[in-house]
Amino acid sequence: MTAPLEINAAYKSFRTPEGDKITALNNVSLKLARSEFLTLLGPSGCGKTTLLRTISGFEALDDGAIHIYGQNVTHWPSHKRPVNTVFQRYALFAHMSVARNVGYALEIAGHDKAKRRTRVGEMLELVGLSGLENRRISQLSGGQQQRVALARALAAKPKLLLLDEPLSALDKNLRQKMQHELKTIQRELDIGFIFVTHDQEEALTMSDRVAVLAHGEVQQLGAPEDLYRQPANLFTADFLGESNLLPLHRAQGQAKLADGQPCPCDLTGDSATLMIRPEDLTRSPRGAQLLIFSGPIKARYYTGKDYQVELDHPVFGTLSALLRDDGQAPELGAEITLYADGTALHLIDEVQS
Ligand SMILES: Nc1ncnc2c1ncn2[C@@H]1O[C@H](COP(=O)(O)OP(=O)(O)OP(=O)(O)O)[C@@H](O)[C@H]1O
Ligand SMILES: [Mg+2]
Repeated sequence: MTAPLEINAAYKSFRTPEGDKITALNNVSLKLARSEFLTLLGPSGCGKTTLLRTISGFEALDDGAIHIYGQNVTHWPSHKRPVNTVFQRYALFAHMSVARNVGYALEIAGHDKAKRRTRVGEMLELVGLSGLENRRISQLSGGQQQRVALARALAAKPKLLLLDEPLSALDKNLRQKMQHELKTIQRELDIGFIFVTHDQEEALTMSDRVAVLAHGEVQQLGAPEDLYRQPANLFTADFLGESNLLPLHRAQGQAKLADGQPCPCDLTGDSATLMIRPEDLTRSPRGAQLLIFSGPIKARYYTGKDYQVELDHPVFGTLSALLRDDGQAPELGAEITLYADGTALHLIDEVQS
């Protein structure tokens, strides 16, 4: 089966007005599986929008190739590519009705009125806006406008939908609701979605796979669980969720932490970084081969079901832990001892500079 999208060794750089060269995409390769929800996740300026723009044809690659369903579209103009985009600023026509916005691409393509009306009706039903055909965009809420943008992008039946931070303007509740709706719509339509966000939680909850980008390069590409449990490098470990990153070195043939504790882990080189997620630190010892960390509590936040605790460690500095609310509130300033089970440890083959 040919992949809906395949990008091979894509490069793109820009010249700034000051004459500097910015590498926006550096050797990016990825392959989308059929009906996959793939998320591009990374900080501002890492190249997410640029990557989408090269897929849709609004920007040409300097080098590399893009195939859509097996066809080499690298040099195709954007209107020929079977792709549509929901833009970062969703650029609706404010003075036009909802129906006209949604049917715009069909109008340009010369479809007759009856066909347009049917398709617009179907799309508005899909996004839950039936009955609002004649409203102007300015008479809609932010969430409704977002749905119009989605309906408009889907109206021309793209084989691939690109979504550039489509939910960033929405408040938290609406954002969550739209996240669920987007997933449902994607499943119903059975087409590939490439979704851009810089919100790691959104990336983890929505995606089949996530590509973590930094400085125009793919840092890691994988299922949310794999990225979270087994980050390939320090950037991914730090960017995806909270993590305690502790330097590890070899001394007398043994892996040791900076406070001298031996670490029950397979250190292959001379040094590495040990990652412990906050939820893997516990108040009572569990399991075997424990690591132990003690110090005063310097901050404590109650989240509703857990306590987020910051332990001030004499060697490692701040350690974050997520402790179950078992009726014993951790007290600010009190000494606490936390344990990490040997099975909860993950080694990263890189050292913090
Ligand atoms: N037309 C352009 N001319 C010059 N530089 C550009 C141009 N477009 C993008 N860039 C630069 O390329 C880099 C990547 O930009 P891009 O818009 O892809 O980032 P992004 O990951 O989408 O960021 P954000 O999360 O802020 O939207 C940035 O350094 C940006 O300043
Ligand atoms: Mg962007």
